[in-house]
This record gives sequence, C-alpha cells and structure tokens, in this order.
Amino acid sequence: MDQKTLVLNWKSNKTPLEAKSFLEKIPDNFDPSCKMILCPDFLSIPVCSEVIKNKKINISLGAQDISRFGKGAYTGEVSGSALSEFVEYVIIGHAERRLLFNETEEIIKEKVLQAKKNNLKVILCVENAHQLDGVGGDIVAYEPVSSIGTGKVEEASKIESVFQELKNYTSSSLLYGGSVNYNELSDLKEVKNLSGFLLGSASLDVENVLNIAKSL
Ligand code: PGA
Repeated sequence: MDQKTLVLNWKSNKTPLEAKSFLEKIPDNFDPSCKMILCPDFLSIPVCSEVIKNKKINISLGAQDISRFGKGAYTGEVSGSALSEFVEYVIIGHAERRLLFNETEEIIKEKVLQAKKNNLKVILCVENAHQLDGVGGDIVAYEPVSSIGTGKVEEASKIESVFQELKNYTSSSLLYGGSVNYNELSDLKEVKNLSGFLLGSASLDVENVLNIAKSL
C-alpha cells in the first residue's frame, strides 16, 4: 500500500508550551508508517523543531501560512526565507484564510510563488477544481467549507467525484480534510485516489493522532 500522508493543522489552538508538551508525549524515535506533517502556529515552530530533533521523531514540519512578500519592510509578516530555516512545507489557501482574511486567488498565487522561491513544499487547500486554475501544490487538500469544524464529514462518493475533477488539473497527491476523526477512517480510506488526510480538531490530542496514524 502507498504511504499515506497525515497533515496536522493545529490552527491557533496551542501555545508554544502546549506544543512542546504534545511532542514530549510522543515516544522517542517515533517513526510512523504514514508521512506525518505537523503544522503549528509560527511561534511554536522553533520549539517543535527542537523537540523533534532531540527525540529523533520522524515528523516533518509545516507552517500554516507564508507572507506573499519576500524579506523586507512588511510589518507583522513571516517571510518564506525565515520559514525555510525551520519547515519543509507550508499550507496555502486554507478556507479560513480565504474567508476570514480575504485571501484572493491572486494572493494565493503570490504565496505559492514565495514558497517555491524558498524551496518549501506547498499543501494547497481548495474547495473545488476551479481553485486549481493557474496554481498548483505539491499536495492538494480538498476541504469543503461545509465540513470544516462542523462534525459533518463529506460523503465518500462526493469526495471521489471531486478528486476526479481535481485530477484534470493536477497529478499531485490528494488529501481530504473536514471533520476527519478516527471513527470515519474506515469509510474514508476506501475513497479512490485518496493519499491521506488533513486533520484540524482531531490533531490536537496526542493519543488520537497516534491512533489515527497507526490505522492508516
Ligand atoms: P477540522 O478542520 O478537522 O477541525 O474540521 C479541518 C481543516 O480545517 O482543515
């Protein structure tokens, strides 16, 4: 079986101390059979990087966002070059950024460009195939807004048909995200062309994450 990918998107839920204590609960030399990508908030990234190295855990790090600008006079932004000292991946185009921070297709394209310039791999979140027009990611996550944080997982047949459309635009691996938890895994794992999951709330509890990782 192909190696599945599990993206853990902590959003703004953990402080750096909480992030550290989550990782400290993971066994030393942890080496999951899936590819695990942890995306803490910016401030928690350095401490996560340190704990992962010290404990020799096989988890990659990703950021949840990137500045659309390069290094320079952009108060409050975090540049791709700063991120590249710590992370391998960056999430771009998450529905919460599109909706709450007014990120347009143009801004998303600029962010993807900054990621590429800094050799960061892009986890591009989309709600439909049109959002892949003129923009690509190394990993593409289909995330219907109606399922994010609502407890309502998308029907497996609907995910399959959206994946079919996405494949007209990209050959990248396809993830599903939106209220995924341990109990739905057996149905979701049957979805054709599915390479893994993006977890939001299910990623906050370490036992839950270890159980999900084990069952992929
Ligand atoms: P959720 O978040 O798992 O809490 O629905 C998913 C996401 O935002 O990608």
